[in-house]
Formats: sequence, structure tokens, C-alpha cells
Amino acid sequence: MKFLRSIPIILIIGGLFYALWSGILEPEKWKVPHSAELIKAKVSEAQLAKEGEKTFKMFCTACHSVRYKEIYPTFVNAPNAKPLFKLLMKKNNGFLNRYIYESAFALQLKGLKAAFGSVPPDLSTAYVYMGEGKLFNFIKDPQKVLPGTKMPNMHLSDRQVVAISTFLKTAILPTEKETQKRHLIGTFVIIFLIVLAVLFALYRKAVLTEEGIED
Ligand code: HEC
Repeated sequence: MKFLRSIPIILIIGGLFYALWSGILEPEKWKVPHSAELIKAKVSEAQLAKEGEKTFKMFCTACHSVRYKEIYPTFVNAPNAKPLFKLLMKKNNGFLNRYIYESAFALQLKGLKAAFGSVPPDLSTAYVYMGEGKLFNFIKDPQKVLPGTKMPNMHLSDRQVVAISTFLKTAILPTEKETQKRHLIGTFVIIFLIVLAVLFALYRKAVLTEEGIED
């Protein structure tokens, strides 16, 4: 069987993808400390996310946005910025995409850049691209992870940092309705692929029979 001979190749390629995906090749350097893991084991994720949103609004919105959660820096809500902001929000169903946001508030963001050397990034996807360990350690002590950064150490407790990290984790999750929609689309795509494979096999057989190669 030809197929059997291709199994080692499939295993090697699959193994490589697995190694990349699972992080065996690049183990995470920063770890969430044990004390923080204990908090996560004791308190529900929903509770932590709720606390985290509050803590974030208290300590981080002077500089950062989480657009996926419709959280914007304080300057966006300043009296002189409000009319434009309200109008843009209304036109975009409550959500500002990055380019609209950055051009509407270019002046304010430029001010932050002048003060901190770089615009404090939007943190909607920070949990994913930094990973939990790095995110935790960065919020706890920015200088430790990124020496020389202008991001201030906010001196938060482990509980507060875990809560913010959990909140940022939920920020990336789609809503319940969106999840259902995606599952439905996924099911349809798989059914479609199966039907396509069957049709293709039948077609192949028909062609081979017609050419007299197979009967
Ligand atoms: C006074 C402004 C300021 C405040 C307040 C602030 N940050 Fe930052 N933050 C920054 C700046 C500036 C950077 C960019 C750092 C750099 O590139 O050197 C940053 C970077 C970050 C990053 C790294 C993102 C990346 O893409 O590398 C995370 C995560 C972060 N901040 C989280 C927080 C959290 C959580 C809080 C609240 C507890 C907070 N920050 C409060 C200014 C601030």
C-alpha cells in the first residue's frame, strides 16, 4: 500500500508541528509564581475576571485601552473628547477598530508617546501574545521583564495581578453567541469537505474506468 509508506512522513511533519505548538522547542521563561497559582485554584475564573476589570480600570486606564472590552484610556472620556468619541462609537456599534481609534485620538496618543517613549499598547490580545507567565511578571515588575521600560511598577498584590491577567484572558474570548456561530460554521465546513472527498473519489473512479485503467 502506497499510503502506508507515507505514514512516517506524516508522523514527522505532524511531530514538528506539535513541537512548535506545544512550546517544547521554546519553553516559557517566565512562570506564574506558586502563590499566584494558589489564588487561581481557590477563586473562580469569573470572580477573578470581574475583580480584574475593576482593578484594570483603577490602575491601568490612565495609559492603556482594552478595545475588545470597550475600555478606553481616561483621556478618551475627557469632556473635550466626548462628542467625537460618542459619535464614532455610535457609528461602530460600540466598538472602535484600531485605525479609527488611533486616528481619532492621534493627538492624545502622541502625548503619551512623548511622555513614555512609546504609545502604551492596547492590551486586548496581550494575554495571548505574551503568555500568562510573562504577562504576570511584567505587570508585577515591568523592569524585571523589560529593563528600561517606562511602564511604571504599580505595586499590585498577587491577587490583583492574577485578576487583571484573568480579565485579559477573557477579553480575547468570543461571546457565547459568537462561539455557537463558529461551532456551527466548523461543522458545516467539515461536512462539506467530507462530501467533496466522496465526490472526488467517485469522479476519479469514473475517469479511470472510462480510460480502461480500472474496472
Ligand atoms: C503611566 C502609564 C502606564 C500605566 C498606568 C500602565 N502602563 Fe502598561 N505600559 C505603559 C507603556 C509606556 C508601555 C510600553 C512599554 C515599552 O514598550 O517600553 C506599557 C506596556 C505594557 C504591557 C506590555 C505590552 C506589550 O505589548 O509589550 C503590558 C502587559 C502592560 N503595560 C500592562 C499594564 C497594566 C496591567 C497596567 C495596570 C496595572 C498598566 N500597564 C499601567 C504605560 C503604562
